[in-house]
Amino acid sequence: MQQPWSAVDEYVAERLAPEDAALAAAVRASEDAGLPPIQVSPPQGKLLYLLARSIGARRIVEFGTLGAYSTIWLGRALPREGRLTTLEADPAHAEVARANISRAGLDGVVDLRVGAAFDLLPALSEEDAFDFIFIDADKENSPAYFAWALEHSRPGALIVADNVVREGALADPESDDPKALAQRQLHEAVAAEDRVSATTIQTVGGKGYDGFMVALVER
Ligand code: SAH
Ligand code: DHB
Ligand code: MG
Repeated sequence: MQQPWSAVDEYVAERLAPEDAALAAAVRASEDAGLPPIQVSPPQGKLLYLLARSIGARRIVEFGTLGAYSTIWLGRALPREGRLTTLEADPAHAEVARANISRAGLDGVVDLRVGAAFDLLPALSEEDAFDFIFIDADKENSPAYFAWALEHSRPGALIVADNVVREGALADPESDDPKALAQRQLHEAVAAEDRVSATTIQTVGGKGYDGFMVALVER
């Protein structure tokens, strides 16, 4: 099934989510630098952009920059005075990301911070409440990042967590993969949390079978 999934991703990307020069260059530079090709697909990047635009997001936080591919999609959803803070633990990834952000003309909007997210969060906590948070770093810590996001977002904010389905391991009680266990823990926590309404959508495409959670902060 991977072949039609990839073909449809390409079909949609060509028509509805085309990469301009900066996005294409970001992919190429990331590949040339040997970064793993695990960025969101073009249709997924477009979805992040649409979601952020839809709520009029002005303050975004991203966990896991890699080469800034999703960062560029999200940065483009912001108004001129908007701000996207993106957190990246790997200095080599951050170096590639910095060049890609500059090439996309987003230096004025994107604040790239290098370090483990847990170490960067205290300073970020001092800043404004956020209205869009994209969780896409070390998957074992997605529940902890979600808890932080909930405490630092305004009512009406969206929290999106990537890679929660994990080829179905999310719903496989036999799977003891720590990344899958963390996604189950995330779902249990969100289910028990009356401040958010959420759902998870399974995805197939160029990146195989996975899915993302979207949560609306109600209060
Ligand atoms: N959001 C990107 C993909 C991110 S891949 C995109 O879609 O384009 C996950 C990234 O998280 C990797 O670059 C990895 O180095 C980073 N990462 C892993 N652990 C981290 C941590 N503890 N804090 C911050 N970043 C981390
Ligand atoms: C993988 C995919 C992702 O979207 C991600 O954020 C991290 C890893 C993967 O396929 O390994
Ligand atoms: Mg991801």
